Amino acid sequence: MKRSPEFSTITAAADGKPGPWTPLSWQGKPQAQAVAYPDPARLTDAVNRLRALPPLVTSWEVERLRALIAEAQNGRRFLLQGGDCAETFGDCRSDIVTAKLKILLQMSLVLIHGGGKPVIRVGRFAGQYAKPRSSATETRDGQELPSYFGDLVNRQEFSAAARAPDPDLLIDGYLHAAVTLNFVRSLAAGGFADLHHPEFWDLSSLHRADLPSDLRAEYLRMVKQLGEALRFMEALGERSVDDLTRVEFFASHEGLSLHYEAAQTRQVPRRVGHYDLTTHLPWVGERTRDLDGAHIEFFRGIRNPVGVKIGPKATPDEVLRLLERLNPSNEPGKLVLIARMGAAKVAPALPPLVEAVKREGRLVLWVSDPMHGNGRTLPSGIKTRDAEDIFREVETFFDVHKAAGTHAGGVHFELTGDDVTECIGAGLTEADLDRNYQSACDPRLNYRQALEMAFRMAHRMAGDQRTG
Ligand code: PEP
Ligand code: CO
Repeated sequence: MKRSPEFSTITAAADGKPGPWTPLSWQGKPQAQAVAYPDPARLTDAVNRLRALPPLVTSWEVERLRALIAEAQNGRRFLLQGGDCAETFGDCRSDIVTAKLKILLQMSLVLIHGGGKPVIRVGRFAGQYAKPRSSATETRDGQELPSYFGDLVNRQEFSAAARAPDPDLLIDGYLHAAVTLNFVRSLAAGGFADLHHPEFWDLSSLHRADLPSDLRAEYLRMVKQLGEALRFMEALGERSVDDLTRVEFFASHEGLSLHYEAAQTRQVPRRVGHYDLTTHLPWVGERTRDLDGAHIEFFRGIRNPVGVKIGPKATPDEVLRLLERLNPSNEPGKLVLIARMGAAKVAPALPPLVEAVKREGRLVLWVSDPMHGNGRTLPSGIKTRDAEDIFREVETFFDVHKAAGTHAGGVHFELTGDDVTECIGAGLTEADLDRNYQSACDPRLNYRQALEMAFRMAHRMAGDQRTG
């Protein structure tokens, strides 16, 4: 790997070499967003039970995702990642999980059609139960209690008992993740969305009154075209059709609770290294990615591909040091950099990072998270995001990569397949927000907004293809 002299000097002087890694070496490092469990003996007991339970995913699935991400790094695939900001145990229901899979599938179809390449589908599901918070406590009517850190840690209700961190929730989280994954796998294996039969895709949601008729017509036209194209390619004996039509889902979540991640991290027969088998693609959040902190220490040691959120204040040096720490031998398929800058900040903030990564020959997949830099709180106190800002950030992300000659490798959305009213734009105004605001954390795109986003991206990708 090429390395600029300034960077080598900084690395050697400031960081030195990290010590030996074990699944528990993170415990010697400062831990951002650490949870203060009141009873350490109960925590140890829960972690030991979790360690004994079978893995949720397998090493060969993790390796397959790495191989797919490696291809995406070369521009041969596009990654679509999406789901709730915070999954809740209460939402572990067939209708909600099915709706989420459907919107991800439909978006992927639209993106395949627009971008002309296979899409890697990654859900923010089956484990997205732990949330970083800007404040450790929350005060209501003079009472101060721990903030809600997600169902893996404590409960939403505002009472001392509900907000006390409960280690048994680590086991409950594992079980809800297992049930969700079981359902996702069965649906995918059972022909839930065989692309050869697009008429089996549940199009009933497209007939909802709130979906504009032009969008519905475009979707139906595309499904028909795609079906014809597939039949034609198969008639020619085209082998890549299989690849294009395989309906695979991978799971992802923020690897925030290192107790949870480490308990399911193990070596497996006939493979080298440790796998975090709670999920295929864990990511490190913007608030926990300190170079010398516990999270980076943990994630540098596992075989899984790892995502890292990158905000607008990140410097090229900081990003390069993270890449060196997490992937010292520059292996393909290992790192996904998820830029979450904000619509106004992405144009100035992203290019220096993209250029530095390119200059150093670092292998990463650049993904845009156009959600987390675009939050705003209305005077009424409601948290929302504007679909126009979200799209503007994605559009700028594509512009930046086009100018740099690098690949805009994927997108990361907070979305749901339901008709929630959390983000404005694309059919909703501020006045609509209290109609069906459900999110346990950040506002998500609803079904129509998500599909519209996919169409807008697809048009952009198709345009880029035409103009080279
Ligand atoms: C999230 O993805 O829900 C999140 C908290 O993101 P970030 O770490 O980018 O703020
Ligand atoms: Co969020």
